[in-house]
Amino acid sequence: MNHFRKRSGELFCEEVPLARIAREVGTPTYVYSSATLRRHARVFQRAVRGLDFLACYAVKAAPNLALLALLREEGFGFDIVSGGELYRVLRAGAEPSKVVFSGVGKRRDELAAALKAGILQFNCESEEELEQLAGVARGMRRTAPVAIRVNPEVDVRTHPYIATALSTSKFGIPANRARAAYRLAAQLPDLRVVGVACHIGSQISEVKPFVEAAKKVRTLALRLRRDGHDIRHVDVGGGLGVPYGEGPEPPAPHVYGRALAEALRGVEAKVLFEPGRLLVANAAVLLTRVLLQKRGAGTRKFAVVDAAMNDLLRPALYDAHHEVEAVAPRRGPAEVVDLVGPVCESTDVLARARKLPKLREGDLVVLRTAGAYGMSMSSQYNARPRAAEVLVEGDRFRVVRQRETYADLVRGETT
Ligand code: LLP
Repeated sequence: MNHFRKRSGELFCEEVPLARIAREVGTPTYVYSSATLRRHARVFQRAVRGLDFLACYAVKAAPNLALLALLREEGFGFDIVSGGELYRVLRAGAEPSKVVFSGVGKRRDELAAALKAGILQFNCESEEELEQLAGVARGMRRTAPVAIRVNPEVDVRTHPYIATALSTSKFGIPANRARAAYRLAAQLPDLRVVGVACHIGSQISEVKPFVEAAKKVRTLALRLRRDGHDIRHVDVGGGLGVPYGEGPEPPAPHVYGRALAEALRGVEAKVLFEPGRLLVANAAVLLTRVLLQKRGAGTRKFAVVDAAMNDLLRPALYDAHHEVEAVAPRRGPAEVVDLVGPVCESTDVLARARKLPKLREGDLVVLRTAGAYGMSMSSQYNARPRAAEVLVEGDRFRVVRQRETYADLVRGETT
């Protein structure tokens, strides 16, 4: 479900024609639908309401302040992975008591900033990190609330670049060292054990691995309690996939919610979730303009657009599929084209061999389901200023991140 729809042949976001946004803001532009985001936020919370829960949006998926503020309004907390993300969520008015700090390596200054802010919990991923955090907390005369991210070692069918629960992965502490790590945490007086955490990967399209991981974490939580630890939070991470128009159809949130409630029955802890993609993926499109059509060898045709791999990295990095749609399709026979950007790399192909209405210079197209890990993974490669971001609310829209300028490209540099 999303609020990007054709109306008399033209693509709108809610009540706003995308052509109007292109005219007034230019391209490439990420266009977010607030109604879609709100809906997904509510659907997720309804799906897990059988549990005592706190949903912490994974900021890395799309970190714009306007999106964070909207999700805060919807009752979400935040899952952060850096001092920069901490800064962002605080700027968006987040309550620190709803913030968890994940990640396999955190700088001491980042730990200190999060301690000072008074966040809910640090998800530590190694014995070394427990010692580091304890050291920082001691220096500040504070006690740091910790959970340990345990690797539940479940096999997840997703892209190998985003699978995290394999025994070879850098993430978490191997399950067989978990109890010893908790003993260590309990011995460090500047730490307070509050929970256990896991995260098994991203764009997961079946419920089974989530259930397996949740059951393992539940068993561990009960065991740790018997060992004398005060496990109040069970963090099951994020990772539920979304449909991209190709590949397996992921389960609906209520199916996931029900299965997890069942798997975690009797755990008697607040269940933390860290959804990212699920909330924002199809709440945005990347709006781009055709620069030209060119013929390649044989019958190959390319539509060169003004967005590129620096704006949307997923196709180049993961061979990810994003549906392409013309904003106001021309009549006439469709053509098979590769949609490519202007960047000087062969992998700068946004979409391969797509059947599209004939495209000409100036035509607008969108790449769908671009909200998650779109803008957040963008760069200035090839000295391309980063795209603008627009948030639509009903029949209005506002620029929530201005397009970067050439001056932005050299900010902080000297000759
Ligand atoms: N929690 C932790 C600890 C994570 O590492 C992640 C994502 C999430 C939550 C959110 O996962 P989600 O619900 O969004 O699946 N750039 C890749 C995805 C990388 C995911 C990284 N971690 C992509 O574009 O597909």
